[in-house]
Amino acid sequence: MEIDPEVLSIIQRAKRVTILTGAGVSAESGVATFRSYKEETKESLWSQYDPQKMASIEGFLKNPNRVWQWYQWRRSELKSKKPNDAHKAIAKWQQSKDQRVTLITQNVDGLHQAGGSKDVIELHGNIWSNHCLQCRAEYKGNTDGVEDVIECPKCGGQVRPSVVWFGEALPEKAWRDAESASYSCDVFLSVGTSSQVYPAAGLAALAKSQGATVIEVNPEPTESSVVDYFIVGRAGEVLINILNT
Ligand code: APR
Repeated sequence: MEIDPEVLSIIQRAKRVTILTGAGVSAESGVATFRSYKEETKESLWSQYDPQKMASIEGFLKNPNRVWQWYQWRRSELKSKKPNDAHKAIAKWQQSKDQRVTLITQNVDGLHQAGGSKDVIELHGNIWSNHCLQCRAEYKGNTDGVEDVIECPKCGGQVRPSVVWFGEALPEKAWRDAESASYSCDVFLSVGTSSQVYPAAGLAALAKSQGATVIEVNPEPTESSVVDYFIVGRAGEVLINILNT
């Protein structure tokens, strides 16, 4: 694949690059996306499961075990997944001496860290952590094979996965860091996200309002209306191309 030389030159000239990733960045690792059907993954999660039931506080309160078991299933699916070229290319890019590259992700799978990224702003939490719904204390026990919701050893509350559900606020520090990285970048690169879920989807507009060039990488068109350049392609091939040019 070839990337428009004008776009490449804008990326290369940038001093600060902020990258926002979504489920598409893990698609080439065989992780199902939420909304788009993809050949690699054979399915999208929200075409099979109701997000209101599986990813909302109401869904959890109504049937905690069903939600817990769904996350246990997702963890078991994710366990064998390996970081792909896109995760690795971003990690390498972050080590650049000439450019400051900040990574913001909506993904909860931990594959950016597995691919070598040390600094990752996780907007939607991390599926490998748990905390108590009531007292919010982190639950550090091993949850492998645990089928029903665990009682918090501190307060007896219900332990839940530490991901952000629909209707919940994003982690405060992560959101502050994401906003400031978006305000201060020259290039905002949105990779593998359908740009439908706010507030994350609003970061591109924040960046643009401060003069950044917004570039999107996706094999499919997205909802975003603030994009300056659209690179049609898969995350892995596009990022490797950017890095090696
Ligand atoms: N490379 C790049 N992009 C890809 C690839 C690929 N190989 N394969 C698929 N995509 C794109 C799709 O075209 C789609 O635009 O990835 C995007 C995935 O979109 P969603 O499934 O909507 O995922 P995302 O945008 O991350 O969802 C945001 O919604 O359900 C919540 O909390 C969940 O973090 C998630 C949020």
